Amino acid sequence: MELLKKMILENGHIINENVLKVDSFINHQVSPSLMKEIGSEFYNYFKDNKITKIITIESSGIAPALMTAINFNVPMVILKKQTSSILNENVYQTNVKSFTKNTTYKLTLSKDYISKEDKILIIDDFLASGEAAKGAIKLIENAGAEVSGIGIIIEKSFQSGRKTLEDQGYRLYSLARIKSLQNNAIEFLD
Ligand code: G4P
Repeated sequence: MELLKKMILENGHIINENVLKVDSFINHQVSPSLMKEIGSEFYNYFKDNKITKIITIESSGIAPALMTAINFNVPMVILKKQTSSILNENVYQTNVKSFTKNTTYKLTLSKDYISKEDKILIIDDFLASGEAAKGAIKLIENAGAEVSGIGIIIEKSFQSGRKTLEDQGYRLYSLARIKSLQNNAIEFLD
């Protein structure tokens, strides 16, 4: 997606050879025009998949997921990282380890917001080693629903996430694929 690549090149900051900071338009301050285009792009790619719900992981996935949900005219469901006292036992849960942030969190999905008839499109901001996506897939499949696709804004193609998800047969579409962040330069994969 050309607008996204342009914004990454103009506003992205390489933290080290594994981490790209995109705080000014995706993770902290959010660009509505970019999110609008991201929503249309995911819709065009997955529109024939009879998607019934968009699922994302809080927090940075919410903006692109909502814009995608508007295009599909279906609900968006947010997987929670912190258990709330309002959520009762009526939940699916799994642990996710983040290698980038070196943390582990419990991902939670209420049974009220998923059914076995659902065809789910997962939307998230980054794909690194795929742990968050694997956690989301586990919860969705525990509910008997289908993961019909996975949409990612920025894929770090030099990490293992794409291979892990494709090897398991999931349909993955990433709007920007980064080949390398080495030598203080952002290199895209065509
Ligand atoms: P994985 O799910 O693909 O295995 O990725 P990983 O656990 O390593 O990433 C965990 C968190 O780090 C995610 O945010 C993800 O968006 C973020 N992340 C991964 N790589 C990068 C990167 O290069 N740049 C930036 N800015 N973030 C990266 P999170 O903990 O879910 O936080 P949130 O932003 O969604 O709240």
